[in-house]
Amino acid sequence: MHFEREISFIRSQFAGQDFIPLHEPRFVGSEKSYVNEAIDSTFVSSVGTFVDQVETSIAEATGTAKAVAVVNGTSALQVSLRLVGVMKGDEVITQALTFVATSNAIAYNGAHPVFIDVDLDTMGLSPKALEIFLETNCELREGVCINKNSGRVIRACVPMHTFGFMIHMDELKHVCSKWQITIVEDAAEAVGSTYKGQPAGSFGKLSALSFNGNKIITAGGGGAIASNDIDLASKAKYLTTTAKVPHPWDYYHDELGYNFRMPNLNAALLCGQLEKLNFFIQKKRNLALAYAEFFAERGIKFRTEPSETKSNYWLMSLELDSEKDRDAFLADTNTNNVMTRPIWKLNCDLPMYAHCESGPLENSRFLEKRIVNIPSSVIL
Ligand SMILES: Cc1ncc(COP(=O)(O)O)c(C=O)c1O
Repeated sequence: MHFEREISFIRSQFAGQDFIPLHEPRFVGSEKSYVNEAIDSTFVSSVGTFVDQVETSIAEATGTAKAVAVVNGTSALQVSLRLVGVMKGDEVITQALTFVATSNAIAYNGAHPVFIDVDLDTMGLSPKALEIFLETNCELREGVCINKNSGRVIRACVPMHTFGFMIHMDELKHVCSKWQITIVEDAAEAVGSTYKGQPAGSFGKLSALSFNGNKIITAGGGGAIASNDIDLASKAKYLTTTAKVPHPWDYYHDELGYNFRMPNLNAALLCGQLEKLNFFIQKKRNLALAYAEFFAERGIKFRTEPSETKSNYWLMSLELDSEKDRDAFLADTNTNNVMTRPIWKLNCDLPMYAHCESGPLENSRFLEKRIVNIPSSVIL
């Protein structure tokens, strides 16, 4: 076995566990008492005090004016894109190297993803690659960005902070503002990360967070939309509440909405988790330090946060030297009960997105062949 020492080091970090999962949730705070409180209150569904509390806490954690709790991160992205005006037949920029939900949320709005390369240091959307794509292929017509190849409007851009590593936001904001493209931030993986001190989830016109069971904090399943635009965020609350016009007793829905609200039961769990976010990040950063030191000695690149950013180190990752090494690492670890996973397949290679336009994807293809995630749970 080639990676014996790596496996025993990972095992030593998670002592006492036979099977070491990629990422387990930890419930060490008030989660159980809050969930019991929700049950006792009988408000287990989509309204309740924990929903209100969770929305306040998420706005605080992201430094935004208002947050809306929803059923998952995918629906948060879907509704955010609709609210910034994405319509059937539009195009939306995103990175090729992302979890499929990013592209699905675009497609759910009837829009077409356009796939751009990532930067090697952040593994997220490259502002430079985007700028080159726009300059080569697009023009501004009456303040609207038009893709000359397809004739379609490029309405929005969805950057994603891979595994919690923040992308180069200043540069991206500059390019998007020059080309009149609205940013909807996919901060699903980056809850608690910061860029130049500013929290993930505060960079988009609207931003999407995920609280799925595999994330740094979880609601069981859940997500949120955060924004500094109170009107847009209020519109998000209304659209995710079946577009019900607020009234003390009357039911009137004046457009096609969604039943996307987070149940109070899930919000109760998430309230407990939010109280532990900073503690979890500190624990993860300790593990990241230990990994960085060990893998440096072994001559394997452990991925660390880009400069001027602070990562939540949600899923930790290695960059192997080649595809062959990557495959050997995956085989050795998984057959020895240490769960590891390759990074995603590029979305442009998935059957439902194969027809979509892409820019050059050299960095995405480089990383696709080499990056693996290693066990990253909080160690108590
Ligand atoms: C990058 C990214 N975007 C969106 C999502 C969607 O979140 P959810 O699973 O809560 O729908 C996830 C995670 O699952 C994700 O990793």
